[in-house]
Amino acid sequence: MPFTTGANGELTIGGVKATDLAAKYGTPLYVYDVSRIRGAIQAYNEAFQARNVDYTISYAAKAFASVAMFQVVAEEHAHLDVVSGGEIATAVKAGFDMRNVSFNGNNKSDAELAYALEVGLGTIIVDNDYELTRLAKMAAAKGICQPILLRVAPAVSAHTHEYIMTGQADSKFGFDVASGQVASAIKKVKAAPSLKLLGLHAHIGSQIFEIAGFIEEAKKLIQLAAENDFEPEVIDVGGGFGIQYTDDDQPLPPSRFVDSLVETVTQGAKDNGWATPAIWVEPGRSIVGVAGTTLYTAGGRKEIPGVRTYQTVDGGMGDNIRPALYQADYQAVLAKTPKAKPTETVTIAGKYCESGDILIKDAKLPAITPGDVIALLSTGAYGYSMASLYNRNPRPAVVFAENGRAQEVIRRETWADLTDHDLSYKG
Ligand code: LLP
Repeated sequence: MPFTTGANGELTIGGVKATDLAAKYGTPLYVYDVSRIRGAIQAYNEAFQARNVDYTISYAAKAFASVAMFQVVAEEHAHLDVVSGGEIATAVKAGFDMRNVSFNGNNKSDAELAYALEVGLGTIIVDNDYELTRLAKMAAAKGICQPILLRVAPAVSAHTHEYIMTGQADSKFGFDVASGQVASAIKKVKAAPSLKLLGLHAHIGSQIFEIAGFIEEAKKLIQLAAENDFEPEVIDVGGGFGIQYTDDDQPLPPSRFVDSLVETVTQGAKDNGWATPAIWVEPGRSIVGVAGTTLYTAGGRKEIPGVRTYQTVDGGMGDNIRPALYQADYQAVLAKTPKAKPTETVTIAGKYCESGDILIKDAKLPAITPGDVIALLSTGAYGYSMASLYNRNPRPAVVFAENGRAQEVIRRETWADLTDHDLSYKG
């Protein structure tokens, strides 16, 4: 797993010593190396620019949403894909250009749709007929013509954990193809003056390493458009590109996905006599995943002779639910000696009241003393964004580090924050 070190061999993030960050901001702490976020967006940009096609990179905000994050996305000229009123509000606070925002989600409320129309959100990705009907009315009442995509369930199964597999026919997301829902939605939009259909959207899943599923998906979207006499301006294949969590993962560079997509879409357009549509992608994990590291302070340990050694840390499933929820694997290093040879096998356990609160099973690490800073690598996606207040542990702070400077971008919650929303009850 790639990580950077300073002159004395200690772990650095964005040019700042990890142990200094832990001392200054406390632990557990999420730290992002901002140059790696920028680099990831630039890699997609370069891959598309090399192919000379119209494209949009829409960062999937759900992977990690915050004002500072959205500001970096804007600086790198990427767009944003949101899935809730809260993510829209974050984009508004970040000063994001709302024309560059798309809105996904399978059960958008009236309040969320009204908010999206009010702030002039660029594209709404309509998931189902109930939403289509309401949105057409709301846009008509405002006297506007809202650009939309239709999300379809393309019946493509990606090879990944079933909880993060989304493109199969039996899915809660998108218009069903086989029963004719897509065909009737296209007709309905064509007849609605308050909506403009830009194209079709699908998302097949997450943490995917193979290209085949994306090619199949793009082909299906083109075929669907052709069958419905609809020349799309946009083909949006969603996100899902896999990243490296441990030495066992061998992800492909974004250019491999991009090249295949461009070839498939260009060929599909040619076959149908269309202009090549713009290709939209919605990467989340592959923009922020490897850029993030979580710092924990080691606590005590429990040795069960002949069974296992549990090494505790001061966080756990509240700041990173992924191991418990998806059996996700991570790798850790000791911040002061990240390159030291492992001398022991320990299971890194959190502080939450659940036996399943394990961050890494059987991690190979050098000897750990209480107070040492342990760094979990590649935690930038779906870590902080899925954090909970379980056991009333406050959520960690988030720090951005770049060029040797660190800046807190989400402050640590306090015990007072936790009780702030509580009201007394008088029976
Ligand atoms: N677009 C849509 C419509 C999506 O539903 C998602 C992810 C993305 C884009 C971004 O996918 P990515 O590039 O990040 O794989 N919490 C799970 C992942 C859930 C993904 C949900 N949708 C995890 O921690 O693995």
